[in-house]
Amino acid sequence: MKKPSSSTLAKLMVWLIIFISFTFLFYFPYSSHTYAQNPLRTRQKLQTQSHFPQIRSTQNKTELQHIVFGIAASAKLWEHRKNYIKVWWRPNEMRGFVWLDKPVKNDDNSLPPLKISSNTSKFLHTNTKGHRSAIRISRIVSETVRLGMENVRWIVMGDDDTVFVADNLVRVLEKYDHNHYCYIGSSSETHLQNIYFSYNMAYGGGGFAISYPLAKALEKMQDSCIQRYPDLYGSDDRIQACMTELGVPLTKDIGFHQYDVYGNLFGLLAAHPVAPLVSLHHLDLVEPIFPNVNQIQALQRLKVPIKFDSAALMQQSICYVKSKKWTISVSWGYTVMIFRGIFPAREIEIPSRTFLSWYRKADSDAFVFNTRPVNRNPCRRPFVYMLSNAIYNPSANHTASEYVQYQTPPHQRCRWKIQRVEVYKKPDPYLWDKPPRRNCCRVLSMKKKGTIAIDVGVCREGETIALH
Ligand SMILES: *[C@@H]1O[C@H](CO)[C@@H](O)[C@H](O)[C@H]1NC(C)=O
Ligand SMILES: *[C@@H]1O[C@H](CO)[C@@H](O)[C@H](O)[C@H]1NC(C)=O
Ligand SMILES: *[C@@H]1O[C@H](CO)[C@@H](O)[C@H](O)[C@H]1NC(C)=O
Repeated sequence: MKKPSSSTLAKLMVWLIIFISFTFLFYFPYSSHTYAQNPLRTRQKLQTQSHFPQIRSTQNKTELQHIVFGIAASAKLWEHRKNYIKVWWRPNEMRGFVWLDKPVKNDDNSLPPLKISSNTSKFLHTNTKGHRSAIRISRIVSETVRLGMENVRWIVMGDDDTVFVADNLVRVLEKYDHNHYCYIGSSSETHLQNIYFSYNMAYGGGGFAISYPLAKALEKMQDSCIQRYPDLYGSDDRIQACMTELGVPLTKDIGFHQYDVYGNLFGLLAAHPVAPLVSLHHLDLVEPIFPNVNQIQALQRLKVPIKFDSAALMQQSICYVKSKKWTISVSWGYTVMIFRGIFPAREIEIPSRTFLSWYRKADSDAFVFNTRPVNRNPCRRPFVYMLSNAIYNPSANHTASEYVQYQTPPHQRCRWKIQRVEVYKKPDPYLWDKPPRRNCCRVLSMKKKGTIAIDVGVCREGETIALH
């Protein structure tokens, strides 16, 4: 056997050095990445996915004037339903039309102009449960395109019982590039509804947005597309069928609310996800969102917080009163809850089941998100305070909102003395320009008898939601 020559040894050494260097270059930096930075990278990836495609040109931001609304209505329900539109419509700032089946009396210029949809009797309709008007309603998108309006970036569809928070709608839409094909909306809260229809469908009542180039592409094919699906149920599944033919998937935004539920929306509105609240729907089918008033009056009460700080509407913050061992949850502009006991944020952020599913079920697996049961013992339930008033102090640039206790009689037995909550907050119109993060709350004082004062705002450096 020949001894390896010195040159072979040298060659071997060189190869070894190269091998080791490569290992260092590729393996170690990669493994340290995996170890230290992967959680961050994963989060960033999710962020870009949910906001894709993103534009950030501040000079040419999408504004309310770039949106044209198409509101689906019927002559039969108009007298009642028009009151929902009045809650949110701003006649001098918004563009859009209410599309009806038949003419109605309209002498109210605080409402959008009315249009009569064109005749759809030539279209096939074979669904025995659904109504033929679904064809008329799905064609509102095409009929709006045919009006040839200028400077339109988005067509936003809603029903006559949909209430939009228009500034938040703009905050959502300005994240997307309207020059591309975008179809934005959300699913039903009831899992079975999404099974029957589709998880890929934007529910019409919650409202959805179609970028103008996509609306134009839809207009070219919608009538022939509708003829291919005579057996579908509604207008929104007909839109989705055509979107699928155009190859455009749904971009989900969790601020659009179909609210396929019965009962009381309280649990959902008191623990809204960390996303701008864009719409509310099915307001005739659920209890009024504030007690002892009708639904229209209840919704009008939201106009005050919407005017002062729309971005913060229904945004939940969670804090604790250490000395008393209480947990406080603020849903800004709507409600405050005080729980006896210290509960972690991951529990308080889950909606309590004050509502039933679309199939009148109350079990936790009926919904597409986590829910928690309402405690059977009334003294273990949170003490609830509902918005009564809000003011804006321009010199301090903050809002003060007042919440008064609701449901006193059964609670008198629970020996509870707080009747009022004051919440102070700086308006934050740019809240959603940053990636989503919950605000923090802090208890300011409990000096005034029966009143607790709370500050809500951006979390400070190092501040977390925990009792330290
Ligand atoms: C703003 O966007 C519109 C529509 O996409 C476009 O026509 C216009 O040229 C843009 N303006 C600027 C200043 O970029
Ligand atoms: C729609 O068209 C059909 C046939 O073309 C006609 O019979 C019907 O009366 C029309 N409906 C309305 C409301 O004009
Ligand atoms: C109030 O404060 C917010 C947040 O710092 C700021 O964006 C807004 O411009 C201020 N408003 C006024 C009127 O000073």
